Amino acid sequence: MTLHELGQKHETDKWDHSHTFMGESYLHIYERYLEPLRGMRLNFLELGVRNGNSLRMWKEYFPHARIFGVDFNAQCKQHEEDRIEILIASQDDESQLGSLADSAGGFDIILDDASHINHLTHASFQILFPRLKSHGFYIMEDLGMSWVDYSEHADDPAYMEGVLKTHQERGISIHNDREDLEKLFRKLLFDMDMNRGDVHYLHFWSKIAVMKKGA
Ligand SMILES: C[S@@+](CC[C@H](N)C(=O)[O-])C[C@H]1O[C@@H](n2cnc3c(N)ncnc32)[C@H](O)[C@@H]1O
Repeated sequence: MTLHELGQKHETDKWDHSHTFMGESYLHIYERYLEPLRGMRLNFLELGVRNGNSLRMWKEYFPHARIFGVDFNAQCKQHEEDRIEILIASQDDESQLGSLADSAGGFDIILDDASHINHLTHASFQILFPRLKSHGFYIMEDLGMSWVDYSEHADDPAYMEGVLKTHQERGISIHNDREDLEKLFRKLLFDMDMNRGDVHYLHFWSKIAVMKKGA
């Protein structure tokens, strides 16, 4: 099955109308990059577990991979199973994410689908990109919702859940501004232009950034 089909089978939302642009869902886009890695033994990390659906999709897509999930909501631990390991931690917890990466031996693919709060997305990138293996992929999802600082509540799963529900029900997003992240992207692009750093390429799609690490 294709990744898109597996997303439907496992009832993720990564293929639905709001995650599709010009006929391509997030999963069509991810498959362009990830299909060649499908049969490999690799470590896949997704930030943001919720109901575990996407982790089960990745497990089936990568039959020889270890799938790691991180979520600050302790209830997510229930989604652990063979080849799926879940760490309960905030996505900006350097000590816990560092230990996870060390025990896994680094990651081949990292996907950030957690808070979508800019400074936390940025913090995860700073912590985890160095722990991404050479030729690995780092993907940021849902950039169309790049929320500005909710830091005073950002460690509170109940609050975040409430914020998400309220805003989704009302059909609006929290103050949405990619500027903080664009500073990061500009810095990465500048380094690439200067032939330095270890980002090989940085691709933008609707609501998605895909970065590939060099050798
Ligand atoms: C969009 S859902 C993840 C959906 C899942 N990846 C999927 O596709 O099925 C976002 C998740 O991020 C978690 N989250 C929000 N803020 C977080 C933070 N600061 N650290 C870790 N997890 C966080 C929420 O608890 C929620 O489960």
